[in-house]
Amino acid sequence: MDFDRALEEKIEYTESCIDRYLPREEGFAKKLVQAMCYAMRAGGKRLRPLILSETYVLFGGTGEAAEPFMAALEMIHTHSLIHDDLPALDDDDQRRGQKATHVVFGEAMGILSGDALLNHAYETALHSFDLAGSAEEISRAAASLQILAAKTGIGGMLGGQSVDVDCGGNAADGAMLEEIYLKKTSALLEAAFMIGSVLAGAAPAETRAMEQVGRKVGLAFQIQDDILDVTGSEEELGKPLHSDEKNEKKTYVTLYGLQEAAGQVERLSKEALEILRGAGRNGESRDFLGELIRRLITRKK
Ligand code: IPE
Ligand code: IPE
Ligand code: MG
Ligand code: MG
Ligand code: MG
Repeated sequence: MDFDRALEEKIEYTESCIDRYLPREEGFAKKLVQAMCYAMRAGGKRLRPLILSETYVLFGGTGEAAEPFMAALEMIHTHSLIHDDLPALDDDDQRRGQKATHVVFGEAMGILSGDALLNHAYETALHSFDLAGSAEEISRAAASLQILAAKTGIGGMLGGQSVDVDCGGNAADGAMLEEIYLKKTSALLEAAFMIGSVLAGAAPAETRAMEQVGRKVGLAFQIQDDILDVTGSEEELGKPLHSDEKNEKKTYVTLYGLQEAAGQVERLSKEALEILRGAGRNGESRDFLGELIRRLITRKK
């Protein structure tokens, strides 16, 4: 099957997993759930759950064990986007091709729906214990939960976002900027690659290798995001251009220039592909993930 058709099918499957774990828009806190679902249903690339699922297959996984984690990871990512757009952070009013959640539902509901998605992510991930049929599967689910929490928390995405905001978008130097990106963006991609492999029963060294793939893909992804903030099209991106300039942020583009930044995206992606080569047991999944990483180098959205 060609890559585009395979991608389409896998995204469809990913969407159905996410949809199954979304709360119902009813009850006492209906407005809160409406705001959560508004952000979740707007689409987005679904990159993290897609990678999680494909890495699971790469290491021989079959069945539904990855599904609660796919949905949970996308909820955590969406939580990060709702909060990232708030007036106190990047103050952006467009996301995923529609008005940002706080613009439609108000700032308080933006804060609360982001919080609620983060909590709902863990409620969702806990369903993996209902699916586990053996002591081995229970222990894989527990290890995956630990990864999910650690990559989201102080040493992961939230820590990265906090330093990004705390330095006013003006990292002292390239090393600090890289550290912010490794936390705010790589961490959730590392979680995707790692949880997929852990759930499939990969060996610890294999999971560590996949963490490195996520680290490099995540860094490349954030640098490309910086590039697209300058050169992209608002229509394709579904979010405002020049958000970084508006917030006077130091980025890979302001620090190194467009050409050197693009070179880094390519170099990091090639390094990730090198680690991926020979990883796992399913050649079809390896080829798919490889092509996905190659396409991200020149992504426009
Ligand atoms: C946006 O992530 C935030 C960054 C880490 C740059 P995505 O570009 O994956 O956003 P969606 O999920 O497709 O909307
Ligand atoms: C944010 O980076 C990464 C997150 C953890 C949300 P950006 O602030 O550059 O992401 P966009 O450009 O708003 O999607
Ligand atoms: Mg930001
Ligand atoms: Mg932003
Ligand atoms: Mg950006």
